[in-house]
Amino acid sequence: MCGIAGYIGKNQASDFLLDALKRLEYRGYDSAGMAVLSEDNALNCIKSVGRINSLEEKIKKTQLNGCLGISHTRWATHGYPTKNNAHPHSDCAGDIFVVHNGIIENYKILKERLIKSGHKFKSDTDTEVIAHLIESHFKDNLEQALLSALKHIEGAYALAVISKNDPGKIVVAKKSSPLVICIGENENFIASDSSAVVGYTNKVIYLNDNELGIITENSHKIISIARNNEIHRNHCNVDLDISEIQKNGHEYFMLKEIFESPEVMKNSTRGRIIPEEGLVKLGGLEVLDQNKLRNINRIILIACGTASFAAMVGEYMLEEYAGIPVEVELGSEFRYRKPIINSKTAVIAVSQSGETADTLASLEEARRKGALTLGIVNVVGSTISRETEAGIYNHVGPEIAVASTKAFISQMTVLALLTVYFGRIKEMSLIMGKRITEEIDKMPCLIEKVLKNDKQIKGLAKKYSKYKNFLFLGRKYNYPIAEEGALKLKEVAYYVHAEGYSSGEMKHGPIAMINENFPSVFIVPNDSVYEKNWSNMEEIKARNGKIIAIATEGDENIKNIADDVIYIPKTLEMLTPILSAVPLHLFSAYMGMELGCDIDKPRNLAKSVTVE
Ligand code: AGP
Ligand code: GLU
Repeated sequence: MCGIAGYIGKNQASDFLLDALKRLEYRGYDSAGMAVLSEDNALNCIKSVGRINSLEEKIKKTQLNGCLGISHTRWATHGYPTKNNAHPHSDCAGDIFVVHNGIIENYKILKERLIKSGHKFKSDTDTEVIAHLIESHFKDNLEQALLSALKHIEGAYALAVISKNDPGKIVVAKKSSPLVICIGENENFIASDSSAVVGYTNKVIYLNDNELGIITENSHKIISIARNNEIHRNHCNVDLDISEIQKNGHEYFMLKEIFESPEVMKNSTRGRIIPEEGLVKLGGLEVLDQNKLRNINRIILIACGTASFAAMVGEYMLEEYAGIPVEVELGSEFRYRKPIINSKTAVIAVSQSGETADTLASLEEARRKGALTLGIVNVVGSTISRETEAGIYNHVGPEIAVASTKAFISQMTVLALLTVYFGRIKEMSLIMGKRITEEIDKMPCLIEKVLKNDKQIKGLAKKYSKYKNFLFLGRKYNYPIAEEGALKLKEVAYYVHAEGYSSGEMKHGPIAMINENFPSVFIVPNDSVYEKNWSNMEEIKARNGKIIAIATEGDENIKNIADDVIYIPKTLEMLTPILSAVPLHLFSAYMGMELGCDIDKPRNLAKSVTVE
């Protein structure tokens, strides 16, 4: 997905537009560009391939003067990441410029028609058709031209348009991709999300699907595209502090966010656990009819990527301690299935960004079939948080690194809270509720202890940095952590390949790969499947496989079979994944750094995949 931004007001536009792109770079970084309308009504555009700093270098050399502009950082879907394909894209004459996050599904047919009618295209992107469509409908009013153009467009978009022939405004439109209008003093902003305006304003208006916005220096107007009438919507105050989007002394956001894990636990549980009563309080669910919740007899957890592994941990928790049948579905698969759903099914979307297209589409499908839809989301005001009937915010602040770490810790924590919440309105006893909530209360200190292994883990990353293949293995609650550990390593230490597997599945194929050059990472805490894991480790050793074990403090025996051991404190089996994930996050981060990778912005990836 891409990041878009726009500025209109009392100051030079390029300053904010560049700053905004730096905040939004985690949304994509294949190329970047900006277009600014000067005081003498000239539309100037600068583009560059690669990171924002190469655009910054170009802007320093060619001052872009003007108080109205738009900018874009790209994650390519249509057209290679070249300068020509970088946004903003213009019409034939260069009088109209547009930036876009999304996919124009029918761009091919539109492009053919526009070429037939004489339009000259400069790029291979889908986005460029928007600029030419507007041009073909433009008379003297930009928003009217965009409204006419949108009638022909199918697909997803968050877009911003400016024109020298109708200056003094930015026109925006939203469908499926996120877009906010932000209100300043004698200046206004638009952006993909509110992190772009931290330090400029905290007044944010979230656009909904099929809405168009007209923004001037001192006004904004929202139009319903379907009904063509004005919508009045108050702004929200988004309390984001500038420090939350800075590295605070860490070399990378990913490291900062891993070391935030203890704080993450505190923020995710603050005001939500009542250990003395073994209860959990989830304000976000109190809007629901409690009887409706009590009658839920099936849960479907929908997520993608790392969030899906958190959901898998939640599946074990909810089944074992709340006694509810649970299944985890990948957003990209569920949306195309014929799911059996009724009003006693709760479909819960787990999503850090709250904008993942596949998860969102699956949620909409579940709602159409009558399910109770809930969200476990980190970004306040995100689309999923607004499209679900109720939900639970992670409250862990912006997660900037593309590789999700602190949100993952929080997702598992919130699922543990939800387990107690559902369990205590069903069969869970007071005693069990107390045991779990008291242990959750201890987790921040336990994670602090895990983080004290930081230097050892950094050393292991160096020691194993020459290996190009890893197998991550775990059972039951820690099988999803094996998957997560493998995904993180693949994401941030590119050219290293890793696979996550259930330890029990290893002998059904993957063990064929094991030799002295193919190390295995075993998550083997003192839990109900310890002995089973031990047998699997024996099988690995019998083939000269090296083993890095994540084991429980005090387990001296593990040193007799593993080549290296990272210890985690003892806790409830259902909470071990929260502790075992942290060393694997650190291991992948340090491995990526050892290999010279930019672990905050891994190649080919984007923070939130808002396209299919
Ligand atoms: C995680 O490290 C990845 N960046 C990716 O798998 C991510 O978890 C997935 O795209 C889901 O994102 P979401 O949580 O914002 O929905
Ligand atoms: N489809 C547009 C392009 O490829 C935007 C991509 C996106 O939103 O990620 O440039």
